[in-house]
Amino acid sequence: MSPAEGAHQLCALQDLDATGCREFRLGRGEWPLRGFVVRAADGGVHAYVNRCAHLRYPLNYDADRFLTQDGKAILCYVHLAMFEPETGRCFSGPCSGLSLARVPVRVLGEQVLLADDIDPEEFAARYA
Ligand code: FES
Repeated sequence: MSPAEGAHQLCALQDLDATGCREFRLGRGEWPLRGFVVRAADGGVHAYVNRCAHLRYPLNYDADRFLTQDGKAILCYVHLAMFEPETGRCFSGPCSGLSLARVPVRVLGEQVLLADDIDPEEFAARYA
């Protein structure tokens, strides 16, 4: 199934097969918002802004690598905070109790799309 007209595609579900995550960019210009889609252990698909709840650094050290080795948690490689994939809430590390910023998404067929009521430019500007 192809994305609905006007929908903003973040990735395909199969893009999550290798690492469980896929990075995306929202917005135009030299400093687009960077985010990532993650598939949780229960199969649910979620997306977050790639900015740690601790010191706001990007979480990953390598492309599409956001999970612990067992795939059960999102890991910030800067100071090793761990977050629940389903909620984005930090359960271990220096920002325990804080959460990643969620990017609203929906799954249509094999595509992960930005939620219909979200304007990509406006959303990206919130984090500029
Ligand atoms: S910046 Fe992520 S744990 Fe410190």
